[in-house]
Amino acid sequence: MTTRGSRITGWGTALPNQVVTNADFEARLDTSDKWIMERTGIKERRFGGTTASLAAEAGKNALESAGLLPSEIDLLVLSTTTPDLTTPATSSIVQDLIGTKGGAFDLNAACAGFVYAMVVAGGMIKMGNNRILVIGSDTLSKITDQNDRSTAVLFGDGAGAIVMEANPAEDKILSYDLGVDGSAVPILYCNHGGYMTMEGREVFKKAVRVMVESARNVLEQAKLTSDDIALMVPHQANLRIIEAANQRLGISMDKTAIVLDKTGNTSSASIPLALSDAADNNRIKEGDNILFCGFGAGMTWSSAIVRWSKS
Ligand SMILES: CC(C)(COP(=O)(O)OP(=O)(O)OC[C@H]1O[C@@H](n2cnc3c(N)ncnc32)[C@H](O)[C@@H]1OP(=O)(O)O)[C@@H](O)C(=O)NCCC(=O)NCCS
Repeated sequence: MTTRGSRITGWGTALPNQVVTNADFEARLDTSDKWIMERTGIKERRFGGTTASLAAEAGKNALESAGLLPSEIDLLVLSTTTPDLTTPATSSIVQDLIGTKGGAFDLNAACAGFVYAMVVAGGMIKMGNNRILVIGSDTLSKITDQNDRSTAVLFGDGAGAIVMEANPAEDKILSYDLGVDGSAVPILYCNHGGYMTMEGREVFKKAVRVMVESARNVLEQAKLTSDDIALMVPHQANLRIIEAANQRLGISMDKTAIVLDKTGNTSSASIPLALSDAADNNRIKEGDNILFCGFGAGMTWSSAIVRWSKS
């Protein structure tokens, strides 16, 4: 019996032009490049653009990489926690900018959103869609108090996208795990029109725990061990969170995609930015098992193992 499933056939990114370095923060806040590097691993981040403009640029780049026209896409899923408007969904603006066919909707699971969107798209392909554009785009600089050193240095703007196409013979999404613990809302949230409020240390501890549990869950479901993972693509919030989770999982950092030194935490965009960077630098080969692992406000988490099969 064959199982209709999906595979990733294209990827693309977009980053705004304005580079904000640690030295820029050092010049106006009580912080230092040394502190930021040691505590987070972030060197610089990008500010600018709108969620829709970045999403459209990343989406177009992903379509080009897949060799598809916008008219060949039959669904657009945009993961974002920073929509440009309260209504309509930002995906409507993106649909108009790119020219995709079929439906479009936003999905918000905070920084875990991209893997949620990828899993939802995989389900929609099983139900009959053929080509789905999945985009993660966020402009966190809009909701970060740039005078609060404990959050300002962490976040940046950007977008990343993948194309998922139907794969008649088998599903390349081997396993997934989506979760939420709503009791953790108070440790990281943003009111309408306000700035993010965060208990950094608590978020750090919970993030490591949920990453490890969720990754173990998808490994077990797929009957794989960490040795079978060729590349870990984690949410890029803090290098120390990734190192702590990887150490517990037995995954070495040289098998891990990292871009946060240049992007900061870009929420929904961070996983496709890291995936694209690895793919563009030939770090992924046909048949590789990729472990995606996200977490975010909510507290949400999301993991999936995808077997790379572009051709
Ligand atoms: C925010 C974070 C970097 C702080 O690092 P930490 O090692 O936990 O630091 P602490 O919170 O213990 O704070 C230590 C001190 O550094 C200070 N500090 C905070 N930000 C600072 C900065 N940018 N520069 C210098 N000092 C800073 C704090 O005020 C605190 O000072 P105090 O001891 O006088 O009160 C870290 O907790 C973190 O990354 N948490 C997760 C955040 C996250 O990823 N959020 C998004 C999830 S999707």
